[in-house]
Amino acid sequence: MKALIYQATGKKALEQRSKPELAAASDAIVKMTKTTICGTDLHILKGDVPTCEPGRILGHEGVGVIEQAGSAMTMFKPGDRVLISCISACGKCAYCRKLMYSHCTTGGWILGNSIDGTQAEYVRIPHADTSLYHISDGADEEALVMLSDILPTGYECGVLNGHVAPGGIVAIVGAGPIGLAALLTAQFYSPAEVIMIDLDDNRLEIAKTLGATSVINSRDGKAIDAIMKLTGGRGVDTAIEAVGMPATFELCASLVAPGGHLANIGVHGAKVTLHMEKLWDRNITITTRLVDAVSTPVLLEMLRARKIDPKRLVTHRFKLDQVLDAYHTFGHAPETRALKVLIEA
Ligand SMILES: NC(=O)c1ccc[n+]([C@@H]2O[C@H](COP(=O)([O-])OP(=O)(O)OC[C@H]3O[C@@H](n4cnc5c(N)ncnc54)[C@H](O)[C@@H]3O)[C@@H](O)[C@H]2O)c1
Ligand SMILES: [Zn+2]
Ligand SMILES: [Zn+2]
Repeated sequence: MKALIYQATGKKALEQRSKPELAAASDAIVKMTKTTICGTDLHILKGDVPTCEPGRILGHEGVGVIEQAGSAMTMFKPGDRVLISCISACGKCAYCRKLMYSHCTTGGWILGNSIDGTQAEYVRIPHADTSLYHISDGADEEALVMLSDILPTGYECGVLNGHVAPGGIVAIVGAGPIGLAALLTAQFYSPAEVIMIDLDDNRLEIAKTLGATSVINSRDGKAIDAIMKLTGGRGVDTAIEAVGMPATFELCASLVAPGGHLANIGVHGAKVTLHMEKLWDRNITITTRLVDAVSTPVLLEMLRARKIDPKRLVTHRFKLDQVLDAYHTFGHAPETRALKVLIEA
């Protein structure tokens, strides 16, 4: 089969690989129909993710069809159409029993990281009964691909951890796919304002069409003044960090009003400064989280009921043969205006 391989820092290629085989009775082999590329795949290619070794097939998102079901599986059979979660969960370990699937002792984020992933014709899914979801007839598979990772991430790490509430004021720093997923799912809770902050005017324009009440380009270094002006000097109830850089985390910390929440989503590769001399008396909560993908059933319901339209994040479409073009397009978003690129079998 064809598969996209992480070869070395900065190097990737479409290679021929043998089809994966069942390794445990709870595994499934899934024939991929659609996958996509995540900002985290770009982090891997930069060498930021040491758990992902050269030779790995990348990808942790997508939909497909069950090709083979392990003998212990009871929930799925060959021919079933499935949504793949970016997080594999055994459902039984102490972390899974606490619904913290991201830290499953035999799963978590392993796909396209410590085991081969979804940017291929076939993928082996461990703990398949508890890591796949049925796709109902007539469901839009392009929209569903957004539920493997980005929607649960924006919702769980940003909106839920950030306690977005009716009438609240939310600032989201970073208008990439993850920040925009937080914007879409924040609206479940009717916040009064959602202010998006980014350096890219195109992404800020898209944010406006997806429900942002105001947008700020922080290129001039005056985002804090702009937010204070918008909030009568008070700051925001929820600041969501969706970039993963010291400057954007520190910006979020400067924006939170007393009693507010700073919900970090970004993957950080460098230390940040926490200004406790300014924060100690502000009654704020700071959270971090690796997505648990525990909200997938809720998001599937919201999609079915047409309360969210994540397909609007899809900007480009490619075939698996063109996966290197897909990476180029996704990796040059300021010029190509890419958000999510779909890759079809
Ligand atoms: N916690 C988790 O479980 C989890 C899961 C998936 C992704 N992530 C992380 O979430 C982050 C966002 O992912 P994405 O795919 O949307 O990434 P992305 O790179 O597409 O988007 C980041 C956005 O931040 C903007 N930006 C960069 N520097 C900025 C600055 N100084 N000020 C304001 N905006 C700035 C960019 O213009 C871009 O629009 C990444 O760090 C990713 O690795 C975390
Ligand atoms: Zn991802
Ligand atoms: Zn587990």
